[in-house]
Amino acid sequence: MVSTALIISTPSHSEANAASDESNGDTHVSVEKSNGKSNVAENSNGAHAAKGPGKHQAVGHKSLLKSDDLYQYILETSVYPREHKALRDLREMTARHPWNLMSTSPDEGQFLMLLLKLMNAKNTIEVGVYTGYSLLSTALALPDDGKVIAMDIHRKNFELGYPFMEQAGVAHKIDFREGPGLDTLDALLLEEKNRGFFDFIFVDADKDNYVNYHERLMKLIKVGGMIGYDNTLWNGAVVAADDEILPKYVRYYKEYVCNINNVLASDPRIEISQVPVSDGITLCRRIL
Ligand SMILES: C[S@@+](CC[C@H](N)C(=O)[O-])C[C@H]1O[C@@H](n2cnc3c(N)ncnc32)[C@H](O)[C@@H]1O
Repeated sequence: MVSTALIISTPSHSEANAASDESNGDTHVSVEKSNGKSNVAENSNGAHAAKGPGKHQAVGHKSLLKSDDLYQYILETSVYPREHKALRDLREMTARHPWNLMSTSPDEGQFLMLLLKLMNAKNTIEVGVYTGYSLLSTALALPDDGKVIAMDIHRKNFELGYPFMEQAGVAHKIDFREGPGLDTLDALLLEEKNRGFFDFIFVDADKDNYVNYHERLMKLIKVGGMIGYDNTLWNGAVVAADDEILPKYVRYYKEYVCNINNVLASDPRIEISQVPVSDGITLCRRIL
């Protein structure tokens, strides 16, 4: 399944060109949309600029990523210099793989590592591995006796990334299980010891099953533990108008992503935060 994580996190210069608006000093962005619409003038909030400043600007604009250059700045200043060598090698190998758009972005990997360390996470689950950038990030952040149960329908992409996990000296923390995520989670639920056991769970696989994952994961995560659902801003498509032209797969998953966002927002068993890192990650802390 194709993730849009890198579509949004690494737009090319032809997709987003910053241009200064001398009238109010705001930076506006001319976006060459991948949907074929050309150069729609938008402000840094993504709102159309013709009608004046967007409402969020009026009350204190909080969105950070105003341009491709700003994202590049974050990568070059804060992410790449601190990236573990095995992660960098894995990222470079993955960049040559035909499905490389699926990979978790390095800034998101860095964010996950910090989160896991802040939580003192020891036992985690990952749904959707691909070549394993987020998996290796997780394994690096866990203590030496930590474990991550990782699941994916395709073993062969995981095997491409596995040598980098060995190179990093963290392969012993990884328990890979091949097969559909729902089946693997159901198998885990059969064992009483797994219920309420896990500190952190990262979900980055089939978006049309996020709601089905959620009910299972709420039984596996401990009270006080965290679930992270990836791609919850879905390349910005969550706010696309019904008649907006979107790539077919973006259109297909849009309603599922909007649905899980509504489900999470109304679930009293969790506290949540929609974090606009990469393609959006919704953090859910189990409280009941
Ligand atoms: C967006 S990629 C995961 C990227 C990964 N987090 C990384 O760091 O590169 C999604 C993965 O989910 C897997 N997948 C798709 N459907 C699945 C399912 N039903 N169960 C488990 N994995 C699935 C795909 O094979 C793919 O490797």
